[in-house]
Amino acid sequence: MPDNSKTKPIADRSCLPNHVGIIMDGNGRWAKKRGLPRTAGHAVGVKVFKKIVFYARDMGLKNLTVYAFSTENWKRPESEIDRIMQLLDQMIDEALDDFMNQKVRIRFIGSRERLGKRLLDKMDRVMALTEQFGDTTLYIALNYGGRQEITHAAAALARKCVEGRLSPEDITPELVGKNLYYEDFDSVDLIIRPSGEQRLSNFLLWQSAYAEFWYSDVLWPDFKPEHLERAIYDYQQRNRRFGGI
Ligand code: FPP
Repeated sequence: MPDNSKTKPIADRSCLPNHVGIIMDGNGRWAKKRGLPRTAGHAVGVKVFKKIVFYARDMGLKNLTVYAFSTENWKRPESEIDRIMQLLDQMIDEALDDFMNQKVRIRFIGSRERLGKRLLDKMDRVMALTEQFGDTTLYIALNYGGRQEITHAAAALARKCVEGRLSPEDITPELVGKNLYYEDFDSVDLIIRPSGEQRLSNFLLWQSAYAEFWYSDVLWPDFKPEHLERAIYDYQQRNRRFGGI
């Protein structure tokens, strides 16, 4: 696959995508290439994550969703899972002031099942403290699966039908959308996946119906603001028709 990240175009700030999703992939391979444990790649991955979030915020991006841990990632060795959760916990402590100062709203999407109480409390705290900010929202997909999210919406609607508050004929795509993890969670316009993989991996299945995709061979720990610029610049050159002509 060609490395589409070599030149340095600047994205037009006047027509940014409303919502960008990033699958932060390649930490393990980055570490392996250097003879380091996979967890060393995750530690660098967190640093890159912070840099990209604040760069995106400075660009004026409204919504950014990052895939931090999928419902399938529980299949990994326990020691790696523990380290990822620890890094996330630490990241919240270290970045909270910056999120507050930079007015970045943090929301977590995913299931709360299997997450530790200490981490859940911390997630709740950072969400409560930053909920007031509206310019840039960072959604952290943690213990997230797109199929699980759609199932969650289906169950909520089924419950309303059983309780007699909704009739199946009144279920529309808009109503399904409103019953996902966040009622106001917009469709994603651009999905960025580094590391050479070209798949969605259960990320934002519902929200990506008309998403544009951008791939690169660069591994997440090597991902730089210029890659984000490039991805958005490339997105801006595309012609989105949403099924029309
Ligand atoms: C992908 O690389 C990374 C993960 C599955 C999880 C960890 C993500 C981070 C630590 C980034 C920072 C996130 C936050 C919000 C703290 P991989 O392990 O799948 O790499 P590989 O495909 O090379 O094995």
